[in-house]
Amino acid sequence: EKGGYEHFMLKEMNEEPKTVRDTLNPRIVENDVVIEELGMSDEEIREIKQIRIVACGSAYHTGVTASYVFEEMARIPVAVEVASEFRYRNPILNPTDLVIIVSQSGETADSLAALRLCKEQGIQTLGIVNVVGSSIAREADRVMYTWAGPEISVATTKAYSAQLIALYLLSIKFADVKGLLAKEEKKELINDLKKLPDQIELLLHNKENIQKFATRYIAAKDVFFIGRGIDYAISLEGSLKLKEISYIHSEAYAAGELKHGTISLIEEGTLVAAVITQQHLYQKTISNMVEVKSRGAFVLAVTNEGNTEVEKAADYVIYVPETSHYFTNSLAIIPLQLFSYYVSVGKGCDVDKPRNLAKSVTVE
Ligand code: F6R
Repeated sequence: EKGGYEHFMLKEMNEEPKTVRDTLNPRIVENDVVIEELGMSDEEIREIKQIRIVACGSAYHTGVTASYVFEEMARIPVAVEVASEFRYRNPILNPTDLVIIVSQSGETADSLAALRLCKEQGIQTLGIVNVVGSSIAREADRVMYTWAGPEISVATTKAYSAQLIALYLLSIKFADVKGLLAKEEKKELINDLKKLPDQIELLLHNKENIQKFATRYIAAKDVFFIGRGIDYAISLEGSLKLKEISYIHSEAYAAGELKHGTISLIEEGTLVAAVITQQHLYQKTISNMVEVKSRGAFVLAVTNEGNTEVEKAADYVIYVPETSHYFTNSLAIIPLQLFSYYVSVGKGCDVDKPRNLAKSVTVE
């Protein structure tokens, strides 16, 4: 059932173009975003004063990305929180909040508990869920499905990509309803979304190069991921992917935080993966790359095509195709998923079933 692939994770990465297409296409109607299952009138959308995104692990990382997207595009304040923290902090919720619970399985105990807590207080909830009919899908006031199909590998790839798409669509919808998107801009955003599946496909084709690169790092002790803004959110996911399946210690930092402690961990040859896709932050991240490089780090950069300027501060560069700055996570994560996969394979780890981890965390 692995469809000729060595592991489910590789199979599922190869399904990402389809997953993105399937999550996107039914919700694009004549160059407009139509999310029927949202069932909210324009009036109700305009009344949302704050979005709270609550999730665990990788799903939480899609929320971090979405917080940047919603705030900039739709000008709605977003608070993102891991479910196990949210549920025990006696959160201050308002009737004008929309709580979005993101979950592949729809069964994650903490996410489900967070959902129930919101419902008890009468706060509107929206589930972004992959498994049809799962607990979160059944209990949320509204559900938007990600059409990724069954995901077997413990490390999520295709469901993560589908969650991002659902969140982008919501952001465009909200921004549009609030009158914040010029017609031309909306058209461009939708066009960029439609291009993502082919662009992801292209990135997947580059797997041999990434495999070669990954082979050099199977003995790494520590790896650091850095980025700013959405690139920080991508770093969080890149780092989690690597540690969970390769057992290499890795951490993600907001690049501007390096100076506040982390930089002392950089040694000769330490791998630092810099995600640098946000044009207005290029110069800032490049200076951080220079800082770690001058302390001996080997710098891998994941950046946009054309940003050759990073080459002066990087030892190895992976370029991703052009898209809206809002959507770069969908592209930049692909080489990072491939990197983790090949490090894990190179080390002989159990890629699809990493030690101590379960696909669905139904206990606290
Ligand atoms: C990481 C991973 C986990 C899940 C997390 C939430 O690759 O898969 O971090 O993202 O356990 O699971 P769901 O989305 O099922 O709520």
